[in-house]
Parts: sequence; structure tokens; C-alpha cells
Amino acid sequence: AQANIGVVGLAVMGSNLARNLASREGNTVAIFNRSYEKTQTLLDEHPEAGFLPAASYREFADTLQKPRTAIIMVQAGKGTDAVIDALVEVFEPGDIIVDGGNALFTDTIRREKAVRETGINFVGAGISGGEEGALNGPSIMPGGSDESWVTLGPILKSIAAVAEGEPCVTHVGHDGAGHFVKMIHNGIEYADMQLIAEAYDLIRRGTGKSPAEIADIFAEWNRGELESYLIEITAEVLRQVDAETGAPLVDVILDQAGSKGTGVWTVQTSLDLGIPVSGIAEAVFARSLSSKPAQRAAARSLPGPDEGLVVADADAFIEDVRQALYASKIIAYSQGFDAIVAGAEQYGWDIKKGDIAAIWRGGCIIRAQFLNRITEAYAADPGLVALVTAPYFADAVARTQQAWRRVVVAAAQAGIPSPAFSSSLAYYDGLRADRLPAALVQGQRDFFGAHTYKRVDRDGTFHTLWSGDRTEIQAVDAH
Ligand code: 6PG
Repeated sequence: AQANIGVVGLAVMGSNLARNLASREGNTVAIFNRSYEKTQTLLDEHPEAGFLPAASYREFADTLQKPRTAIIMVQAGKGTDAVIDALVEVFEPGDIIVDGGNALFTDTIRREKAVRETGINFVGAGISGGEEGALNGPSIMPGGSDESWVTLGPILKSIAAVAEGEPCVTHVGHDGAGHFVKMIHNGIEYADMQLIAEAYDLIRRGTGKSPAEIADIFAEWNRGELESYLIEITAEVLRQVDAETGAPLVDVILDQAGSKGTGVWTVQTSLDLGIPVSGIAEAVFARSLSSKPAQRAAARSLPGPDEGLVVADADAFIEDVRQALYASKIIAYSQGFDAIVAGAEQYGWDIKKGDIAAIWRGGCIIRAQFLNRITEAYAADPGLVALVTAPYFADAVARTQQAWRRVVVAAAQAGIPSPAFSSSLAYYDGLRADRLPAALVQGQRDFFGAHTYKRVDRDGTFHTLWSGDRTEIQAVDAH
């Protein structure tokens, strides 16, 4: 047995991760794939990696030093369970099975519990950064036991992206914590992408600039406080010309956004946790709306405003949109971190918020300059209840909120959908409101269902006898 780490599943992500591992000092990598063909291809194409191929799970286990450590890189779902079962058969207590796919964290909790009974460690690790990240350095979010981290930590640190000298990996928390945090990462990714898409749409419709010209604007934004991977690649996508038609590629791509599930999970989970992740939810809804061709065709003739977006000063408008994007982005992250806090509490994970922001600075899809500020905010105040209220972010929103309002107003007036911009603003205004009409909702609930309410001026639970003489009584049961 010579390999200190193994990879199971050699599709693009698995192959790239295996090559990344092999390229780092001290690693010898065992590889296994269900069909040997892929194993052979990887061996042929990358002799420099010194891979140790295995033709069976038994051989794979024999190739690995103890404690055996294997990373599964297969499409999340049933396939993952089959691979885990096969590895459990040939592994021994103390060995470590890592699932590097985008598994639903509740599946990871279930799997960790089942595998733990055999004495083997099971680690759900979120891995972000796509194919390129897997090869050159992803951001890695492992859960699982403290014991597994002892062996796994140095290996994962060897392949992770590096941001300001620090590897973008930390032991997030036990069992499903890693996959939970990766799920929230993807939810934030959805919101970020939708916000950027809305910014592009508003600028294009408001100023008539071409995608290539808007690419320049994004490239410029990427030099300021919005600096991030997603802004950078947006400029690249907008600049791309379709070889066949000569049109901007973005104009020939069908406008129906797909998804593989992690954004939906973020929203479903947050709903269960009672956390309003409205920016993320609107990003998910915007994708589903886009993918309803029949409904969109049926609605196409419905009326809109008389006038489209009229922009008097293009540069000023573009700057407003930039500020609206920044403010909305702060809200998306603030909501995402609220969900992390709530998840940690619900599932008993000790998640360090500042560390999560730190490992998102490099390698992952939402990597951005801005994440340093989040780390700083949690370092300054570990008990911070809402990220947007941290001094740096509160100042940023104070400086951008007027522009944000102008953009949302202009979009609504011109009939341009901006669900993520406008819902983020509504969330911000809801959060900072002195009084909310939730008081009326409580009155309505009490009226039709005797659901009771609290009063602002004294303790207790109350009910008005709505169908009687409408006097108020003290209630015992709040429900
Ligand atoms: C990442 C990405 C990655 C993947 C998403 C895309 O962090 O590397 O988030 O996990 O690209 O699954 O999700 P959708 O297909 O749902 O957009």
C-alpha cells in the first residue's frame, strides 16, 4: 500500500481533483472508476501524475495506506450510496470516506450516522470552484468527525486554493455541516448571479449599450469594491461573439436558466429554519419563471407601462446600478449567513462564520474581495446578529441605498423585472422598520382563528372576543 489518498469517480471533477492531489508534494493517489476505461484514459493522458490504478474496490483498498482515505467524486444521489456501501465493505475502522459531491446535507447526516456504526469515518465535503477549481485549487468545506480531520486536514490543505497565504479549507463542523455550508454557498451564488443579470439587463435596456460595451463596464467594476470571480466571468461571457451568426453569444443563448438543485435546497431549508433568504429565493424563482415557455408565450401580449426605461444620464444610471448591485449583494450574503447561523443552531454545529467567509475568498464560485470584510465583521463581533448591521456594511448600505431605490423605482416604472434588487430592498426596509404591519396580520389571525397576540405595553398573551362583545381577554395558549 503506497497511496495516501484515493479518488473514486473519474469524470471531469474527479479526474481534475485526482490530478490536483497528485501534483502536490507528498501525495500518491490511488484511482478507481466503475468502468476501467476512464481509469485507463486518465493514466494514459497523465503519466506524470504517477497514479496507482485499481480495477476493483478490493484492489483500491489494498493500494491505500491506513488510515485509508478516499474521496468520492460521483454525481450526487443514489450513486453515492452505492459507492459508500462498496467502500464500507473493503475499508476498516478508522478509515475515512469523503463525499466530495454536492450532496444534500440531510443525506450526509444520514450517511455519516450509518457509516460511523462501522467505525469508519464519513466526511461530507463541499467542493467549490468547478472543473478549473478542482484542478488548480478549490475552496473546500468538509464536515465529519474531528478524528477524520487529523488525517484529512493536511491533504485537503495541500490542494485547496490559497487566499492571502491561507488555504481555503477549514473543518466546518460535524457530520453534514460541510455540505450545509456548501449549499448556502450555492444559494448565495444564485443570488449573486441573478443580481448581476439584472444589472446587465437594466444597463442594456436603459442605455442601449451593446453586450461588449457592457462587458467593459463589468471589467471596470471588477477593479473596485465589486471585485469578484462572477463579475469577471460576466465580462467574458458578454464579450463572447457567436462564431456562427456573428451576434453576441448572450443573444443566441436560449433565455431559460437551468439548475441542479442546490439553490432550491437552500431556500427549502431556510424556509424550514424560518430564515428569510428572499434574495436567494427570488434568484431561484427567476430561473423557474424563465423556464416556463408556455406561460411566458401566453403572457407576452399582456400590457406593460407606456414608456420603457428612459435614462437621462447614462453614466449616472450605470453608477446607480453598480451601487444597487453592491447593496443587494450585501443583503444576499447577510441572509446566507443568517441561514448558516440558524442551521448551526438547529443541528448543533460549531460553525465559525468568519472562517467560512475566509475560505470563500479563493477557489470558489463566489470568491470576492468583499469576503475579507465579512471575516473582519465576525472577528470584531462574533455575536453579530445581522451582517448588514456591521459597521462596514451598514456604512456601505447607507452610501448606496438612495441609488438602490432609484434603480428599483426605474425598473418598476419601465416594466423591467428586477426581483432580486427589489426583494433585497424590501428586506432591508423591512428589517430597519420601526413598526411592521405584522401587527395587523396578528389581528387578522386572532380574528379568524383565535390565534392570539402579544401587546406592546404589557406581558402576556391576548385574544379579542371578535364574535362576541369584542372585549379583550387574557389567553393561556399561544398557537
Ligand atoms: C461550485 C458550483 C458547482 C456547480 C453548481 C451549479 O461551487 O463549484 O456551485 O457546485 O456549478 O452545482 O448549480 P446549478 O446547476 O444549480 O446552477
